[in-house]
Amino acid sequence: MEHPIAVIDYGSQYTQLIVRRIRELGYYSKLYQPDELSETGKPAAVILSGGPRSTLDDDAPDIDFDYLVKMDVPVLGVCYGMQLLNIKFGGSVAPGNTREYGPASLVPEAGVDGIFKGLSDSSQIWMSHSDTVSNLPDGTEIMGRNLDGVPVALKWNDQYYGIQFHPEVSHTKEGQEILKNFLSLAGDLPKFEMSSFKDELIERVREEVAGRKVVCGVSGGVDSSVLAALLHESGVDARYIFVDNGLLRKDEAEDVQSLFGEVGIEIETIDASEKFLGSLAGVADPEEKRRRIGSLFVDVFFGAVGDDVEMLAQGTLYPDVIESATSGSIASTIKTHHNRVSQIMDLKAQGRILEPLDELFKDEVRELGRVLGLPERVVGRHPFPGPGLAVRCPGEVTPEKLEIIREADAIFIGLLHSKGWYDSVWQAYAALIPTKTVGVKGDERSYEYALSLRAVTSEDAMTAEWVHLPYELLGEISNRILNEVSGVNRVLYDISTKPPASIEWE
Ligand code: XMP
Repeated sequence: MEHPIAVIDYGSQYTQLIVRRIRELGYYSKLYQPDELSETGKPAAVILSGGPRSTLDDDAPDIDFDYLVKMDVPVLGVCYGMQLLNIKFGGSVAPGNTREYGPASLVPEAGVDGIFKGLSDSSQIWMSHSDTVSNLPDGTEIMGRNLDGVPVALKWNDQYYGIQFHPEVSHTKEGQEILKNFLSLAGDLPKFEMSSFKDELIERVREEVAGRKVVCGVSGGVDSSVLAALLHESGVDARYIFVDNGLLRKDEAEDVQSLFGEVGIEIETIDASEKFLGSLAGVADPEEKRRRIGSLFVDVFFGAVGDDVEMLAQGTLYPDVIESATSGSIASTIKTHHNRVSQIMDLKAQGRILEPLDELFKDEVRELGRVLGLPERVVGRHPFPGPGLAVRCPGEVTPEKLEIIREADAIFIGLLHSKGWYDSVWQAYAALIPTKTVGVKGDERSYEYALSLRAVTSEDAMTAEWVHLPYELLGEISNRILNEVSGVNRVLYDISTKPPASIEWE
């Protein structure tokens, strides 16, 4: 696409979030490395991101400033980017003694307009820096300060602005207004629409694949389903492999088959459930369980496709790049373990790993899936972990326990659907607590397991809140589980936030 808003990546963990926020405003933005400035063509605007380094380091990441100035477009420096611009205009940066991290307040100077148009008098912002700008070049306008009077927003001229805080994180309350105001300085902004982005992704996939044969693991989860639909639509020569590891939810293997059938994608199913359950027998340690599942998955997968894979497609999303294992696909099971798996390391080193979704966040992948024509029951699906029900069954995994989890989970999820809660929940499931306690069933004493129900809301699984489900609904779920699932005599509801708890029980 022509004239993107170019975001120059100085390595902050929030950089991709700038791109995403711009997409949310409806404009097309792309990430570039500092030495790729000349590859941006003529961008509509440039944003220099934050980063972990200090501009005072000898080998600090830099920018070709003459080239930037010649581009003659609006430029915004964020955090590291602001400090770099201050140096380029002839000012300086001083090392900070401590790191300022967390919420702060922005007090715009009286009468400033421009990128702070319409902001409140004291606006919450999010800081993460240590160095600060010291000398300001002549003619620099201070646009805003923090509560200690320290300048946190600068304007060097009508096109060059800098802010010490991060407008892209949600803790900066008016961050979107600031980005919107900044972009209004640019002419001819490129519109972002998922349908044209899809076309661009298809082009990229064709180019990258370049006639090679692709293998793609599918799980029925959102990421790998969208990936498969994208590959299918690109018309590349691909095989779609589904491994049944015996740790799936009730009827899942059949559902996945019929789902892909509906969208015209032929998948090859490998039933390896006995192998997986066999390798988990007697193993209680969570890491050991994960290790066995991961390495067996790779063995089964490569056993089926052969070692000679020309190209392997993975549904890696952007949050997976910054924090591993946040998505729910089989492809990401490969990814979770890819550091340790030589087959995948080799393929990566040879440029044979295809990850076309790696710029996107989960909700954007869902939107892409809709544009690709996937049904709502696929794109709206809750994430499901690669190691499956094993991470919902603390201690040893047995067929008996899996059966209990499956039945209870089906009741729970079914009621969330029928009562209209499913879509407002990020993820929900039943986990088995591997302790038997005494109860009464009929007129008899029972000695059975407890189940924990968990339902959370989240933005990309890094933090999570438990959902305030109505008592009546919880009561109905509990009654049905206690009546219909044998082997359970207690149902609990998990009211732990992440952190400190995690989303899964393992
Ligand atoms: P936790 O339990 O770490 O989970 O709070 C965060 C999110 O990641 C999912 N999850 C996984 N996804 N492979 C995956 O593909 C895994 O090994 C894995 N472990 C956890 C979990 O379901 C939640 O959405």
